Amino acid sequence: MSMLEIPKSFSVKTLLEVTSTNDIACASAVDGADAGTVIVSLNQTSGRGRRGRVWDSSPGNLFFSIILRPMCAPLVAAQASFVASISVNETIRHFIGEQSDVLCKWPNDVLVNKKKIAGILLESQTSGSGKSIAVVDWLIVGIGINVSSVPILPNGELITSINKETSSTIEREDVLNVFLEYFHSFLQVWKNEGFLVIRDVWLNKSFPKGESIKIEISGRMVSGLFLGINNDGSLLMQDEKGIVHTISSGDVFFNSLEYTNASCH
Ligand code: BTN
Repeated sequence: MSMLEIPKSFSVKTLLEVTSTNDIACASAVDGADAGTVIVSLNQTSGRGRRGRVWDSSPGNLFFSIILRPMCAPLVAAQASFVASISVNETIRHFIGEQSDVLCKWPNDVLVNKKKIAGILLESQTSGSGKSIAVVDWLIVGIGINVSSVPILPNGELITSINKETSSTIEREDVLNVFLEYFHSFLQVWKNEGFLVIRDVWLNKSFPKGESIKIEISGRMVSGLFLGINNDGSLLMQDEKGIVHTISSGDVFFNSLEYTNASCH
C-alpha cells in the first residue's frame, strides 16, 4: 500500500497579476494552505521555467500552480511531474482531437505537432535530514499552457497554442477544469497502482524508443538513441559507443524536432 497522500478535491483561487503563481503557491504552502489549493493568475510578471529560464507569460495563456502534500520521499514526489505531463497531454487531446500528434517530451514538456504547448515546473520543501527520513512537506506543480498566445522565443524553439491548433477561442477556465479532472484521476492511479503504470502511460505518449536524440552531459552535447525512462523517471540514452547513460536532469533535443537557433546546433 502506498504512503502517497493525494488531495480529495481542488480549490481554485484566481488572481489578476502575480510575479509567478509558483511564488504565491510556495508562500501559501509555507502558511499552511491545504493540499489541492490551486493558484491561477491571468498574468505573471516573472514567470519561471526550468533551469532558471524565463517562462513567457503572454496574455491569454493559462498559468497555475497546485499545492500537493504527498508525505513521501523527494524522489517519489518528483514522479508527480510525469503525472502532470500525462494529464496535460490528455487535456490538449481533449481540445484539439486525435488528428494532432500530442507528445510528452522528457522531462516534462508537451508538444503538439512537434511544437511546445506546455511546460511544468516542480518546486518543493523537504523536512528531515541526517538520520531521519526526508519527507516532502509540500510540492508545487506549476504549469503553463499556451491557450491563445504563441510567444516567440529567442532560441527559435517552435511554439503553438490550443487556439492556434483548433482555430477556435477556447477559454482558459475550461482548459483548467479539464486538466484538474485528468490530474485527479491520474493522481489516484499513481497512488493505487504505482509509478510504473504512470511511466507506461507516459511512454505511450512520448517519442518512440530508438528515436535519435542529443543531450548535454557534463557540458558536452552527446548524441544517441532514446531508450525510455527508468523506474525513477531518469532518461535512458544509448550513445554511439553503446554506453547507456542514465540522465536525471537536462534538456533533450530530438533530432526530428526543428529548431532555428537551439543550443544543440
Ligand atoms: C518549463 O517548460 O521550463 C516549465 C515552465 C513552467 C511555467 C509555469 S507557468 C505557471 C507556473 N509559474 C511559473 O512561474 N512557472 C510555472
